[in-house]
Parts: sequence; C-alpha cells; structure tokens
Amino acid sequence: MLLLSQYLKHHKTEDTLAELIDTLMLACKEVAIQLREGELAGVLGSTDNTNVQGETQKKMDVIANDLLKKFLLDNPLVAGLASEEEDLPVAGNPDGKFLVIFDPLDGSSNIDINVSVGTIFSILELPEGASGADESAYLQNGRKQLAAGYVLYGQSAVLALTTGQGVNFFTLAHTGDFILTRENVQVPTQTKEFAINMSNHRFWEDSMRTYIGDLLEGSEGPRGKNYNMRWIASMVAEVHRVLTRGGIFTYPWDQRDPGKPGKLRLMYEGNPMSMLIEQAGGIASTCYINILDLEPKEIHQRVSVALGSADEVNTLLEYHNDHSGVAAQLNS
Ligand code: AHG
Ligand code: MN
Ligand code: MN
Repeated sequence: MLLLSQYLKHHKTEDTLAELIDTLMLACKEVAIQLREGELAGVLGSTDNTNVQGETQKKMDVIANDLLKKFLLDNPLVAGLASEEEDLPVAGNPDGKFLVIFDPLDGSSNIDINVSVGTIFSILELPEGASGADESAYLQNGRKQLAAGYVLYGQSAVLALTTGQGVNFFTLAHTGDFILTRENVQVPTQTKEFAINMSNHRFWEDSMRTYIGDLLEGSEGPRGKNYNMRWIASMVAEVHRVLTRGGIFTYPWDQRDPGKPGKLRLMYEGNPMSMLIEQAGGIASTCYINILDLEPKEIHQRVSVALGSADEVNTLLEYHNDHSGVAAQLNS
C-alpha cells in the first residue's frame, strides 16, 4: 500500500509541489465529507447568486470554492488562485511559487440527484516578476502545467493525478489517506463508446453531425461496429470513464451561442483534462488543434473539447479537416 505522499516522494516530485498537492487534497477531503452528508448537512440546492459564467451557483459550488480557497491561501507556497466561481484571480502570498486554477465542483447539476461530481485542478508556476493578482500570469499554455488532476466524488473519492510522468489513481481510504490504486493508467487506443449531449444535435456543425451519424449506423455503417453511448453531464465522471476503459468524450462548438468557442472552460476544464489524457496516451483536441497547443487569452475562456482513445479521436479529426468555418476559427 502506497500513500500519495510516499508515491510523490518515491517519484522525486519536488517537495514544494508535493506539499501543494497535499494541501489541495486536504480541501478535497472536506468537500468529500460535505457531499457524503448531502441533505443532512444542508448543502444541497441553489443559492440566489450567479457566477461570472451567468450560471446559478449551487450551494456546493460555493462551499467547495470557499474550502479550496481557504486551504490554498493558508499555504504560503500559493501566489494566487483562479476559479470558475471567482470573477477575478485572487492573490496569495507575494513570495509564493505556484498558481492554482480550479473548477471547485464540476458537474454541479448532478448534486441534487446524488450523481457523481468532481473537483478539477491545474498547477502552474508563477512567472518571474509576475503577481498572483494579475490575470496575465495565469494565461500560460497548457503544456506549462506542472501538475493537473481531479478528484471524482463517486461511490469512492478518487484522485487522478499527473505531474508529467504518467497518470495514477489514488482512492480516499477511511483513514483519510489517498492510497495508490492504479498505476500508469493508459487509455485504450480503440473504443466502441462515445459521450456527447445528443440533445444539441441540431446545433452542431455538419462535420460533427456526420461523425455521430456514422457511429449511430453501427455495424451496417462506415465504421463497421456497434457503438454504445453514455452522458453523465459531469466532465470528471466522463474523463474518469475514458481513462479507465477508453471512449471518446466531446462537447463541441454549437450554434446556440455561435460566438463562443464551446461550453467547457479552457483553463480549469480543458487544459488539466487534456494533460491527463495525453499523459495516459490519449488525444485531446478542439476538433481542430490539440487543446494543449492553444494560447489562452482569458481566464474564463471557453473551448470545444474532444478527447479520449487515440484512434477514435483521430477519426473524428478526419471529419473536421475543413478549417474555414467559425468553429475552427474560434478553436485554433
Ligand atoms: P460545471 O458544473 O462546472 O459548470 O461543469 C459542467 C460541465 C461539464 O462537467 C459537463 O460535461 C457539461 O457541463 C454538461 O453540460 P450539459 O448539461 O449541457 O450536458
Ligand atoms: Mn465544470
Ligand atoms: Mn463547476
């Protein structure tokens, strides 16, 4: 049995980064406890507030955000943080070393129905001479992430973590320790399982409609095999499934709001999940470019996402080889 702290030590993770990950997990454990109590703790339901995305905040969105903020700002290593639930970055210790970007509660529409949610995080180094209060400090290319991961609050709480040396799963034990339960996770290259919110079908680009249409034709269609479909409406749960047994997950650009590149957010959903997927041998793309190659322009920037089993994502990309449309322009 290997504890998260022991694992990080054995793999020569820099002490300060290991300490920061430990702090993040202290916060996530508190989130897990609140979620487990659910209705008993009075944490279900919505607040009267909307966040910068224009979405009504659930009580747990705010509770999780406040917990992460409190634990992180108490750690002098943290120079600043940015969150889905904060309009602007929050400065930490001016002498701190790290920036942390997070989605405190992903899939929050699932909270009230007792279905899986998660916390997603991305860790960056504070650039020389920069301040944790400045948005520009956070707008770093996804390949500069020092570490990325999520905690899935499912039947058990599971941390998926990468520090750039592969992906590992750690399960939260009753002792409060995260214990290594799966090492060197690899996404199978092929799959027969896709995840997309089919209710948006009429708003997609033709290329996406054609690709999904071909999957639906099954063994009689051009793909020559029958596909299964899943949609949990929690990116953490979908990515965990993809990391565990393969698959393709996509939330593409659509015409409901054509000026936006997509629904998901680059800095605290797209980038950390893409680092995990690439570290596990999968591909993460906007349908036009690798997500980790995008140059971020704002902290709450949106992005089109297609990620998972390498062969399947590559096939999807072949349907998107015309880069002249608005979706391509917004996602390149
Ligand atoms: P969040 O709860 O952090 O706002 O993120 C929800 C995201 C993502 O987790 C999920 O894949 C997607 O929104 C679901 O969207 P639909 O409800 O449109 O399917
Ligand atoms: Mn989210
Ligand atoms: Mn969220």
